[in-house]
Amino acid sequence: MEIYGIDHVELYVGDAKQAAFYLAHAFGLQVHGQGGPETGLADQRSLLLRESAVQIVLTSGLASTHPAAAYVQRHGDGVAVVGLEVDNASVAYTELLARGAESVAEPVTYTDGQETTVVIAEVAGFGDVIHRLVERHGPRREFLPGAIQITEPSKGPDEKLFSEIDHLAICVPSGQLKPTVEFYENVFGFLPIFDEYIEVAGQGMESTVVQSPSKHVTFTLIEPDPNRRPGQINDFLSWHAGAGVQHIALRTSDIVEAVSTLKERGVNFLASPSAYYRALPDRVGEVETPIEALEELGILVDRDHWGQLLQIFTESMHVRRTLFLEIIERRGAMTFGSGNIKALYEAKERELQGVEV
Ligand code: FE2
Repeated sequence: MEIYGIDHVELYVGDAKQAAFYLAHAFGLQVHGQGGPETGLADQRSLLLRESAVQIVLTSGLASTHPAAAYVQRHGDGVAVVGLEVDNASVAYTELLARGAESVAEPVTYTDGQETTVVIAEVAGFGDVIHRLVERHGPRREFLPGAIQITEPSKGPDEKLFSEIDHLAICVPSGQLKPTVEFYENVFGFLPIFDEYIEVAGQGMESTVVQSPSKHVTFTLIEPDPNRRPGQINDFLSWHAGAGVQHIALRTSDIVEAVSTLKERGVNFLASPSAYYRALPDRVGEVETPIEALEELGILVDRDHWGQLLQIFTESMHVRRTLFLEIIERRGAMTFGSGNIKALYEAKERELQGVEV
C-alpha cells in the first residue's frame, strides 16, 4: 500500500455556502461542484472547491441528526476528513485494518457509467477526524461521480495562488503525541522526519512531523507540555474540544504575491517584530526577496538542510479561534526549520493576547 498524497480535506461547517464564499473570494479557490439530497447525500449540502491540486469539500448538515451537525456543535467548524490518495482503496483498507486501524466505512464505488470510477473507504484517524482512502480512475474533472455534481467553476479571482496542500498541523492532548506518532508509523507506514520542542512565553510544546514515504502527506503533530504554563495548544484543545487540525498549509510558488493579494482582499495575517527581520540574514543567509518586503508583509524565512522556506499564518477565521491557514513557499527546503516554528507560535501568541475581533 502506498499513500501518494492528500486527495482532499473535508470540513464540517455551520454554513457551507458562506464558508465557500469566503474561500472563493478571499483565497481564490473555485467552487467546482456540489451535492445534497438531490444527488443522494441525505440531510447534507456539500460544496467542492478546487485550485490546482488543492481540493476542499465543505459540508453542512441539513438536519440535526447528520454527523456534520453533531461535529459542528462539538468542535465548531473544522476538518473532519483527510482524504488520502491510494492506488487501490480496498487493498489499502484491508491492510490498514490488519495493522490495527478502526473501520469507519467499507469500500464503496462511485461511477459515472463511462470512464470515471472512484472507490472510497474510511478508517479512523485522530480525535473525530477520519481518513478517507481515495482511488481514482479516469479524468480528474469528476470528484465523486453521482454524489458531487460538477459545475462550471464559480466566477471569482482567477489567478492561481496555490498548488497543493503542503501539510496539516494537528494538536493532540498531552500524552497523546507518542501514541499518535506510533499510530501513523505502524498503521500507515509514515516516517518521523522532524522533532522539535518549542518554548513560547513560558509555554512548552512538543512536536513531531510524520510523513508518508511518498513525501506528499505531511502531518505536524503537536502536544502541550503539561509541566509548563498552559498556553495556545491547550486553548486550541479546549476551544476545539479535543484533538483536531489546527492549520492547513497551502503551498504557493510566490508567497509575496499570494500574501499581497490576500491582504488586499481583507485576509488578516499574523505579524512579527522587526527584531526578527534584523536577525534574519545571520540566521538563514542571503534571501532572494528583499527583507523589507518580507517585513512589510510579515513573512517568515527559515532553512533546512536542503534550502529555504517562507511561511506565514493567517488569523483564525472562526469564532472559536481554532482552525487557520498557513501559506508556505519552499525554495529547496524539504522539511521545516526550528526558527520559524518558534516565530510562528510567538506570532500566534501575540494574536491571542491581542484585542478580540
Ligand atoms: Fe505549519
